[in-house]
Amino acid sequence: MELRDKIALVTGGNRGIGRAVSLALAKRGCNVIINYRSGEEEAQRTLEMVKGEGVKAWLLKFDVRRRNEVREALHSISPEIGRIDILINNAGILGKKFKLEDIDDDEWDNVLNTNLKGAFIVTQEVLKYMKKGKIVNIASIAGRNGGAVGAHYAASKAGLIGLTFALASQLAPNILVNAVAPGPVDTSLISEEKKEELAKLALVNRIARPYEIAHAVIFLLENDYMTGSVVDINGGRYMI
Ligand SMILES: NC(=O)c1ccc[n+]([C@@H]2O[C@H](COP(=O)([O-])OP(=O)(O)OC[C@H]3O[C@@H](n4cnc5c(N)ncnc54)[C@H](OP(=O)(O)O)[C@@H]3O)[C@@H](O)[C@H]2O)c1
Repeated sequence: MELRDKIALVTGGNRGIGRAVSLALAKRGCNVIINYRSGEEEAQRTLEMVKGEGVKAWLLKFDVRRRNEVREALHSISPEIGRIDILINNAGILGKKFKLEDIDDDEWDNVLNTNLKGAFIVTQEVLKYMKKGKIVNIASIAGRNGGAVGAHYAASKAGLIGLTFALASQLAPNILVNAVAPGPVDTSLISEEKKEELAKLALVNRIARPYEIAHAVIFLLENDYMTGSVVDINGGRYMI
């Protein structure tokens, strides 16, 4: 797919991997709707950066866990945008508790509702504006191997991979759906001390930079013969 003049929605597009994806899209001439939940300052900064690439950009505030908010936000912007060509389901959280015995029902629900149900809700609502296009879900290595994270996070990302397969089979050939499964990435999702520890798990001796994940996302968007695929991007973690 040629990205120039398309319209993309990036959930959690204000910072971290979402910002890198928003910028990578803008650099290819794609207009970007930058979603955020509470990071207003980061959102304004990303908006300026994206507009600096000469494309149109909008901020759209909604919580992916809340269907009404998502629906109303999309409705409010629809007269201006008309359609959505690309959806990046990126919004996600790691959770606050990591040991199995510490994860209570509220903690479980919050992570699953954000990382998995959020992607489901946003996808359903966006499909009302997308007849032809691409969806990329930001999963995780944790959805492949459990990872060095909480069981709720791993389950949410494994679920997101399952959702990717189901959407790919139900939406083809007009809408192609893929996922990326990154290893640790240098964003505020991970604490600084954990980053050093995780760097040792990769063959390349470091964690990923956000633009390296964005690069894989762009590849999936530009390629028209991939659907239902999960691209691992983890610095050779499986060999260790
Ligand atoms: N960093 C890693 O090591 C890593 C590895 C593999 C996969 N991932 C995945 O990559 C994605 C992005 O993570 P990141 O590393 O860029 O993390 P980040 O810097 O912490 O950013 C998280 C983003 O998600 C948004 N968000 C969180 N809850 C939301 C909600 N309920 N509704 C709407 N937006 C919400 C945040 O918006 P606000 O700023 O408004 O809160 C923020 O934009 C996540 O799905 C994460 O699981 C990350």
